[in-house]
Amino acid sequence: MFKKFCQYSHQTRTVRQRRASWRSRSPLWGGGKPISISLSPNTQKDDVFLALRTILQLWNWKSFNVVPRNVPRGSAINAEGTLKSTLNYAEQLEENFKQYLGVKYAFAFNSGRSALMAILSVLEISKDEEILIQAFTCNAVPNPIIWQGARPVYVDIDETLNIDPDDLEKKITPKSRAIILQHTFGVLAQIEKILTLAECYNLKIIEDCAHSLGAEYGFRAKRENHPALSPPSERAGSSTFQPRYASGKAGTFGDVAFFSFGRDKVISCVYGGMVATNNPDLAKRLKEFQEKCGSPSNFWTLQQLLHPIIFAVALPTYYFFNFGKFLIWFCQKIKLLSKAVTKKEKKGENPDYFPQKMSNALAILALNQLKKLNKFNEHRRKIAEFYENNLRENFSVVSRPVSRSFAVSWKYPIFMANPKEIRKRAKKEHIILDDGWWGSPVVPPDTDLEKMKYKRGDCPKAEKIAKTILNLPTHINISIYDAQKIINSLKTENEN
Ligand SMILES: Cc1ncc(COP(=O)(O)O)c(C=O)c1O
Repeated sequence: MFKKFCQYSHQTRTVRQRRASWRSRSPLWGGGKPISISLSPNTQKDDVFLALRTILQLWNWKSFNVVPRNVPRGSAINAEGTLKSTLNYAEQLEENFKQYLGVKYAFAFNSGRSALMAILSVLEISKDEEILIQAFTCNAVPNPIIWQGARPVYVDIDETLNIDPDDLEKKITPKSRAIILQHTFGVLAQIEKILTLAECYNLKIIEDCAHSLGAEYGFRAKRENHPALSPPSERAGSSTFQPRYASGKAGTFGDVAFFSFGRDKVISCVYGGMVATNNPDLAKRLKEFQEKCGSPSNFWTLQQLLHPIIFAVALPTYYFFNFGKFLIWFCQKIKLLSKAVTKKEKKGENPDYFPQKMSNALAILALNQLKKLNKFNEHRRKIAEFYENNLRENFSVVSRPVSRSFAVSWKYPIFMANPKEIRKRAKKEHIILDDGWWGSPVVPPDTDLEKMKYKRGDCPKAEKIAKTILNLPTHINISIYDAQKIINSLKTENEN
């Protein structure tokens, strides 16, 4: 295994090294393509060609178009209980996703945000009820709660950057209805403790797997492991607690889970999301909700399909007289490129395209990426290991506390006193480390905290982490050679 890894790193290094040294010598090129954490990170050549082909095959855009069924018999049963003879691409994605995750039901939407809106609606979360969420989250999590008329209650985080069970218990009130269990950066939360708490207080668990598609865990949730919870039976109003025994993939532990296929997520079709559940009653209501949702407009779909294509041109020319940089800026200005989070959302407002169904055309891209999921995650693990071996001595890193879990290293966070400075200086070496996950307990950093119902001081650990975190890239377009360049840059900064 180690031998194979050395071979791999050697091969990647030599090819990349040759290319990079040519580029860095060329004054015209200006140093070549940036090493970047979030500029279309999952896009490979086949994704670009697929996007181009999909733009030309207009007949595939609308959901009434169909493809031959190639899923196992019996898995494509529609709401009436009959076997469907054909599936459109969005339905095909739902089928493949169900099979991958091992759940009974999956429903595709145009984003994780829409997926969460669907969940909150079918759980009938009403006005003034409280949803417990962790601080150090994206505004895409509190916003759907606020749009539903409910109230996000922020819980502080533990050393894995996930929700802290002790603070969680303190923040539960009679108005609490559900916990959103975010597995931050692909590292699983303390599932056992949280499930036990949810059981005690009769709360629903909504798993937020936006960062953790492919993460796995094996555990036994037992009350006696958690003396802090006693006497739980009184609080839960029941003395017949059944410990849950479970193991499996992230997204299969709670009542319902949602995933994101956003532009920089574990897999990507620029905008997309999925709800997964094993609960037939919820599934019935989710299907009804999905059917009532509109489909994205053709222009919106075109914007997303253009994303991988424009970045395929912009990235290699990023520093070529700044052409690539300008191209991205210009395409955003004339709205050929969409933004991951709009200005409106940073102020707590809903843009007009949530909630909507999954775009059939974007499902084509997502299906292709889903095929590459294991390869992507394996690569992320290798790059994270490489960082770990080379940085642990010099920097504080996130611990992975549960030995029986398999984390997805969606990003590799380290902590330092002056990450803002480091990001600035790394940029001069054409290393772009600004992924928006810093500076605030609700990211991106220019989010209006008041509109997110967050009060400064609510979650001191999360606020501190946000000030010291620096995320490193692990995606498929980062080679060991790139990771080494990042490490060299960080070590130089550290010595200065
Ligand atoms: C933790 C978390 N949850 C949910 C979401 C929402 O996903 P999407 O961007 O697909 O709406 C995001 C992404 O922005 C996220 O980071």
